[in-house]
Amino acid sequence: MAEQQGAARGSDCVVLATVPDGPLRSEHFAMQTEDVPDPGPGEVLVRVQAITIGAGQRAGLQGSASYAGAPEAGVVMRGTGAGVVEASNAEGINVGDTVVGWTGWRRHAVMTGGDLRVSDGSLDPALHLGVLGTNGLTAYFGLLDVGRPQPGETVVVSAAAGSVGHIVGQIAKAKGATVVGVAGSDEKCALLTGEIGFDAAINRHSPEFRAEFRAATPDRINVYFDNTGGEILGSALFRMATFGRIVCCGAVSAYDTATPDPSPRGIPGLLVNNQVRMQGFIVFSYADRYDEARAEMRGWIDNGALTPRHVTYNGLDTAGGAFVDLLGGRTIGTTIVRLGD
Ligand SMILES: NC(=O)c1ccc[n+]([C@@H]2O[C@H](COP(=O)([O-])OP(=O)(O)OC[C@H]3O[C@@H](n4cnc5c(N)ncnc54)[C@H](OP(=O)(O)O)[C@@H]3O)[C@@H](O)[C@H]2O)c1
Repeated sequence: MAEQQGAARGSDCVVLATVPDGPLRSEHFAMQTEDVPDPGPGEVLVRVQAITIGAGQRAGLQGSASYAGAPEAGVVMRGTGAGVVEASNAEGINVGDTVVGWTGWRRHAVMTGGDLRVSDGSLDPALHLGVLGTNGLTAYFGLLDVGRPQPGETVVVSAAAGSVGHIVGQIAKAKGATVVGVAGSDEKCALLTGEIGFDAAINRHSPEFRAEFRAATPDRINVYFDNTGGEILGSALFRMATFGRIVCCGAVSAYDTATPDPSPRGIPGLLVNNQVRMQGFIVFSYADRYDEARAEMRGWIDNGALTPRHVTYNGLDTAGGAFVDLLGGRTIGTTIVRLGD
């Protein structure tokens, strides 16, 4: 279906004002107005309703995410958004459809139809961007394909109250594992062991962290899902069971700084002695299985095995601050910025 807009118009966006060389601040971002062209052949005009922000985007600004390229000041922040089609020259995409794609932090996006996924418009965009989006898929494939937990095994996940982490823990529980989370506050730990259903949770800031970590893993760790690297990875390495698996998902402890800590001790010796497999992965490698994963996760949501959580910010101008909050451990679940009308 083809439908054209009128003349190009100005629309809000957020640019990276300066590339951070230390901890991220909201001043690193600036609101701007950009011209939105009419969609050309095969293109679609999307009114973005919500965007999501993930910790991995900080690695992108650091230049340490292989898939993101070098960060560049003055350009619109990259990122995933969900919205409604306002005009379409793309086969199979109609005005009014809900779509998800790499819109960037902007109110209107003109995109090639093939770069958009038509989604169920009856669902909250937060679900498309969270559990059914990149972070949910990351939890699913990282845990099930790389970690491969078995019933009765112990799974530990770091950044456990975060977007990826809280989904990892719930899937691991659904698979019959004992689940231990590491998070950054007592409140988050109480939420994890309460509403979210983990078996145990440890505050990474506790002065007794190492002892508490050991006490929470009496049978050692079969799968450690590592979102953080750093000290938590260092502790997990010493608690791995024979034939354990370490899923290297990300290293958020090294993102928001110009001087990341060196890697933990014990590699490769502890891996050799305990015959541990340590494997990194990038979710985009699983693109041909996304539909299968989304269908299974929707089933878990429907039967109550998986309760995704998100935190909402309102207004595109809150996106920079939301990103700073996420890195500072002040968010729970997936971070969503709703753009409003
Ligand atoms: N491999 C892939 O394909 C892929 C795809 C998507 C995401 N990822 C990775 O998944 C991980 C989680 O991303 P997310 O978007 O879900 O973020 P998130 O967990 O929602 O937010 C990041 C969390 O990291 C924790 N944190 C911050 N600084 C830390 C530090 N110095 N040491 C330990 N923990 C710290 C904070 O939680 P607490 O304060 O509660 O600990 C914060 O809430 C990231 O490493 C990201 O790069 C990987």
